[in-house]
Amino acid sequence: MSFVQTVAWVDEQLRLIDQTQLPDKEVFLDLSTTDELIAAIRRLSVRGAPAIGVAGAFGVALAARQANGDETEFRKNAESVRASRPTAVNLAWAVDRTLAFALNGHADDWERRAVEEAQRILDEDLDLSRRMAEHGLTVLPDPATVLTHCNTGGLATAGGGTALGVVLEAGRRGRSVSVFVDETRPLLQGARLNTWELERVGIPYQLQCDGAAASTLASGRVDVVLVGADRIAANGDAANKIGTFAVALAARHANVPFYVVAPRSTFDLSLASGTDIPIEQRPAEEVRSFRSAAAAPANARVWNPAFDVTPAEFITGWISERGVERPPFPT
Ligand code: MRU
Repeated sequence: MSFVQTVAWVDEQLRLIDQTQLPDKEVFLDLSTTDELIAAIRRLSVRGAPAIGVAGAFGVALAARQANGDETEFRKNAESVRASRPTAVNLAWAVDRTLAFALNGHADDWERRAVEEAQRILDEDLDLSRRMAEHGLTVLPDPATVLTHCNTGGLATAGGGTALGVVLEAGRRGRSVSVFVDETRPLLQGARLNTWELERVGIPYQLQCDGAAASTLASGRVDVVLVGADRIAANGDAANKIGTFAVALAARHANVPFYVVAPRSTFDLSLASGTDIPIEQRPAEEVRSFRSAAAAPANARVWNPAFDVTPAEFITGWISERGVERPPFPT
């Protein structure tokens, strides 16, 4: 069961918990236009591959409402939601699926059908989280110390989560589990969101700066690394939050198993390898400052890729709703 209602359709609007405000404030946003949704996705009010997929699916309902029966307009609105973030394939997958389902009905029915399909994707996501957690628990010793990077809990999905979902489920089952949480520069998904989720269920953690991960792994304190993914290519290369590749390299050096936990909707078998995965570049301001506090000169030149690609050779296993998989992945 999810502890947070990350995404919901309420009174014909899309309700999101605003993740940019966590952990200080629990604020919910009610969105009624695709422009509002696109802005929310871009500023990461809703984030995490499965969660933006579900939000994008409901965005198709908003796109239908705005189109007033005009199919070209409907497709154009849906496409702008689909393109709002490029790396997580779940967004494109969920928009395409919902658009196709909606268009299979009469124009008067597009919005209702889109809501129906988006709700189905949301419900499926709950079930996928449960199944991934079940498989993930098979690679987790008891007691276990896990290291993770970025937020992959309930906030990143509509369900219980992917990588952090495994940890949360272990805690719920009374297993002894603790976590090294990478803060996840520059937007601090680890420091702000994993801490919030872990505290809600009482799982012990230690927050560390990203640069500490390699020495923590080398010290022998970690049993297993669990991370999520935004897109997994056919050969197993996995795009995830920037810094994940560095964790994988350090895990290999320390001989610590490194698992990627992601639903099948994150696998993009049309791409042969990770070099084909589009990597989002984010605004320089995110690195130069945090919220309103400056962290660098205002004119500092910045390189700010949001994701990196961990080559398959550094990944011990790919945990999906189907089990612990290895490439070549069956379709
Ligand atoms: O930029 P974000 O916060 O959307 O990046 C999220 C990640 O990289 C997650 O690890 C990934 O989406 C998997 S979420 C279950």
